Amino acid sequence: MKPLIAGNWKMNCSLDDAKRLIADIINGVYEDDALQAAADIMVFPSFLHMSAVRHALANHSLLAFGGQDCSAHDDGAHTGDISARMLSDSGCSAVIVGHSERRVGHTETSSDVNEKVRQIHANKMVAVVCVGETLEDREAERAEEIVQKQLQESLPASVNASNTIIAYEPVWAIGTGKTPSNGEIRMMHGHIRGYLEEKLADAQNLRILYGGSVKPDNAADILKINEVNGALVGGASLDADSFLGIAKAITG
Ligand code: PGA
Repeated sequence: MKPLIAGNWKMNCSLDDAKRLIADIINGVYEDDALQAAADIMVFPSFLHMSAVRHALANHSLLAFGGQDCSAHDDGAHTGDISARMLSDSGCSAVIVGHSERRVGHTETSSDVNEKVRQIHANKMVAVVCVGETLEDREAERAEEIVQKQLQESLPASVNASNTIIAYEPVWAIGTGKTPSNGEIRMMHGHIRGYLEEKLADAQNLRILYGGSVKPDNAADILKINEVNGALVGGASLDADSFLGIAKAITG
């Protein structure tokens, strides 16, 4: 399975920064054949920077972009929200849902995430569903149980290997510079794969990304762990060299 390196820009960048960042990423990808062969690359800009990213990617089909969230509703009176259909209309091929910054900061439940995934699938996009335990959960040795519950409740029946990606992101590793040990990542990804295999016929082909403090200097170690099929990158995706440095780590 070709790994995916996905950059979650979160609420960062001025419009000019976003234009520069996507131009630098495009240049880096197009001048590196080995990188193109080794990984798929996606970026997730803010909603407001999406049209600039779409414009920049118009003749660059090696890269794709998506949204950082969407509404659980199809349309109607939901002030401030963005629907999956709007994202699809805007050229998105994927949408991140269930990020811990949404689950914690916006009190989103797994059942909200489930509705969002349905909307994403109904609009023919790929759902990037984030799951992950808190430090408290890990210390109480409940990490696998918590992640499995999130999967159980967040994934609707429409899930398959072509329309869904799972991103395992321990909450305590996001933006902190801390990461689980390679053994802990291997165990959790194996557990997620095992759970998916019980539910889906094509579970072997579903990408499971790791996210949380992935940087160019730890990427090679993380990306070679069994059942890690790519990375969801936050902070390090805001600089083209460090973002592509993570993808290059796959090529050795
Ligand atoms: P980070 O964020 O790489 O800055 O830790 C990852 C994420 O939130 O997706």
